[in-house]
Amino acid sequence: MDVSTLFSLSGANALVTGGSRGIGAMIAQGLIGAGADVFICGRKEKELMEAAERLGAMPLVADLSTDAGVEGLAKAMRERVSRLDILVNNAGAAWGAPFDAFPRSGFDKVLNLNVVAVFALTQALHPLLKAAASPEHPARVINISSIDGLTPPRGPTFSYSASKAALNMLTRHLASIFAADHITCNAIAPGLFETKFSAHMFDPGHPKFDDRPLIPMNRAGNPEDIAGAAIYLASRAGGYVTGAILPVSGGSGCFQDLADK
Ligand SMILES: NC(=O)c1ccc[n+]([C@@H]2O[C@H](COP(=O)([O-])OP(=O)(O)OC[C@H]3O[C@@H](n4cnc5c(N)ncnc54)[C@H](OP(=O)(O)O)[C@@H]3O)[C@@H](O)[C@H]2O)c1
Repeated sequence: MDVSTLFSLSGANALVTGGSRGIGAMIAQGLIGAGADVFICGRKEKELMEAAERLGAMPLVADLSTDAGVEGLAKAMRERVSRLDILVNNAGAAWGAPFDAFPRSGFDKVLNLNVVAVFALTQALHPLLKAAASPEHPARVINISSIDGLTPPRGPTFSYSASKAALNMLTRHLASIFAADHITCNAIAPGLFETKFSAHMFDPGHPKFDDRPLIPMNRAGNPEDIAGAAIYLASRAGGYVTGAILPVSGGSGCFQDLADK
């Protein structure tokens, strides 16, 4: 056993959606540090270019909420690589509104990006994943879910928790059919990480501050926590893991008593 290369991603191609900031940028940084060539995408070109420069990643502007955006990204990948070893479906959105006022559009937007776009992009990139896959070196799909898909959150983010529960099942369903293609499919379910998306949970003056999860380990996650999980699932170390939902949450969302908080 060569433990020195067990977590190496040397020579691998990866795509991290939403890699321009937050959890996606943390994962992109980790994959690059482990030796992968990493593409990142996002909608805002300036922020994406700056992140790509900072991280040493390759930027591709794409809006994954539309069919054209998904197909455009898949086409751009086909033009640049002949195989894709690692796909990280990270881009996501949330919506919060009181139960009585929660709009249908809050479901349309969130389910579209967090579930439908993940399926569509994975489908469009399946030929490139298959081209990278072998029994000894499976290709990897890693979906960024949330602990809110495992236990009900405190805030009124009804479509978000439903979307992440759906993504967890989509992960397991795809894992069951991808096994024959030598492609693993797993989800990481993060707890609280400080990003633009969660900034209100770090501001005691913010009205949504009390929505933040209870964290048994009493701290938010850091870049190494999430990058380490992604490197594990993407590397030889995680090659026999598929259909798993891995909480990276300091224990939040993992224990039944917290579901009744
Ligand atoms: N932060 C947390 O505490 C936490 C906890 C659990 C799960 N998560 C999950 O982690 C993932 C990343 O969240 P984050 O906190 O890092 O959020 P973030 O800081 O808001 O970053 C979101 C990323 O996704 C991109 N993006 C958003 N909409 C997109 C679209 N339609 N097409 C393409 N790219 C798009 C954004 O770039 P543009 O705006 O330029 O498009 C950005 O790069 C999400 O799936 C989220 O649900 C986060």
